Amino acid sequence: MTSSNPRKIRLAIFGSGGGSNAEAIIQHFKGHSDIEVALIVSNRKNAFILERAKNHNIPRLKINRTAFYEEEEVILQLQSLRIDWIILAGFLWLIPKNLIDYFPSKIINIHPALLPKYGGPGMYGKHVHAAVHAAGEKESGMTVHYVNENYDEGAIINQFKTDLNPSDSPEDIATKVLKLEHAHYPEVIEQTIMNAQGK
Ligand code: GAR
Repeated sequence: MTSSNPRKIRLAIFGSGGGSNAEAIIQHFKGHSDIEVALIVSNRKNAFILERAKNHNIPRLKINRTAFYEEEEVILQLQSLRIDWIILAGFLWLIPKNLIDYFPSKIINIHPALLPKYGGPGMYGKHVHAAVHAAGEKESGMTVHYVNENYDEGAIINQFKTDLNPSDSPEDIATKVLKLEHAHYPEVIEQTIMNAQGK
């Protein structure tokens, strides 16, 4: 028997901080016919992203280093919750190979700069914007990319730019880029998943 209502594609959002992108993603997929946010994962127990999950009644998972890097525990948990895609939104730990192999081309990240510039180890959050500022760049932006075993090196899916003024501080740059992220990341996730599923 074929079902006329197949189950939705289930996302796990991984984050280490405030989770403003996670919030935008949750809002975007509320009531979506094909995709739902099914889990929020964090490596920091006090990360506000976990609070956001609670506010939206989305299951939460706090992970520790040993379980993530040395055991299969996290994969088993994701499996038991039937997670289909992993969305990184401000998640600062490198993704281990076993997780990448388990979710081939199904892990997406957002980076707050125009990769390949300003990526790699140590390049996250305010460090990125400080480097962009120090270099006197005339533009910055956001990059959505697939995740591989190295920081910020997976294939680029899409990029969006914002102009910078010489008077912009690193904080001003951060504000501009975050605004761009909230406006575009959910949409890019949706398009990428729908294309991959052939919808
Ligand atoms: C976002 O700007 C995201 O691009 C960045 O962290 C911020 C998280 O904000 N990610 C990285 O720097 C990864 N290298 P949020 O928790 O409010 O979404």
